[in-house]
Amino acid sequence: MEHTILEKKQLSEQVYMMRVAAPLIAEARKPGQFIILQIDTDFGERIPLTIADANAEEGWIRIIFQAVGGTTMKLAEFEEGEAVAAVLGPLGHPTHIENFGRAVCVGGGIGVAPMFPIVQALKKAGNHLTVIVGARNKELVILEDEMREIADELIIVTDDGSYGRKALVTEPLKELCESATPPDIAFAIGPPIMMKFAAATTKPYGVHTMVSLNTIMVDGTGMCGGCRVTVGGETKFVCVDGPEFDGHEVDFDNMMKRLQSYKPQEDKARHLCRADAEADRIAAAKGEPAGHVPVKGAAETTTKENA
Ligand code: FAD
Ligand code: FES
Ligand code: MG
Repeated sequence: MEHTILEKKQLSEQVYMMRVAAPLIAEARKPGQFIILQIDTDFGERIPLTIADANAEEGWIRIIFQAVGGTTMKLAEFEEGEAVAAVLGPLGHPTHIENFGRAVCVGGGIGVAPMFPIVQALKKAGNHLTVIVGARNKELVILEDEMREIADELIIVTDDGSYGRKALVTEPLKELCESATPPDIAFAIGPPIMMKFAAATTKPYGVHTMVSLNTIMVDGTGMCGGCRVTVGGETKFVCVDGPEFDGHEVDFDNMMKRLQSYKPQEDKARHLCRADAEADRIAAAKGEPAGHVPVKGAAETTTKENA
């Protein structure tokens, strides 16, 4: 099974949407689950990405990613019709969905993408839904139309006030908690610092808050320990025990420290990637082929136990 890119769209300066052929995963996936993707067998690194949407009939999954470093920058260079080497999934426990009553979903930056299937499922289950979308600036606001169509209330905030309200996501979240109709449950997905403060905001009001953790992952099977976090004083592996946890129990400071572990290597890979992109640009100007080699004939791997 070839994981061909069926559609590619640039949503903002650094954010890309791709529909990728993966029929077995499209059939099995549930909201909150993710894949591990390998772009090519030479470059090798495996990265986790949330399944933002899927269509079982047509056999594709949708990923939305921010080109932040070596692998995501290389993935952003892939074009429609090319194929990535491997897609493993669906991984992780699905989100627990039921009619909680009033639910608030807080998505920060690229965290809005993983939030989308959860928003869809919560609405389908009958929840009254408030969605708070936060971004550094207007350019980085994604999925606004899609969220507006589903949510009962959509609040957009930007750090610089270039769109929506000039605030951090925690401001409207606190107001909701203090309102006459506080949420029965909150979901927060975004940078760890945002999830830390979203959980700290809801805690005094006793609003149960689920967060989806974006730790470093390698194998995605619970074997390597790369995704280790401390939740309620216990060691958990995000790939097999998560990715969602009770935000009031997560040791975010430890998680953020661990995310810095490979900073020198990541900086080097990003630098090399920018150099590669520049070489490709020069090659293209000369009418020569680009350097990256899309893989043909790779296998799709499903994890039936997660289906
Ligand atoms: P690098 O420069 O290598 O890393 C940039 C930062 O990304 C690092 O500092 C680290 O914080 C993190 N990171 C690096 N390597 C990994 C790795 N192997 N696994 C996890 N994090 C890593 N991003 C999206 O844009 N869209 C998504 O839908 C999405 N879903 C995710 C779901 C899960 C369950 C997890 C754990 C992460 C998710 N991420 C998502 C984050 C994404 O995996 C990282 O941005 C990506 O791995 C960065 O790789 P890079 O080589 O481009 O950047
Ligand atoms: Fe290796 Fe979770 S990614 S244990
Ligand atoms: Mg990397």
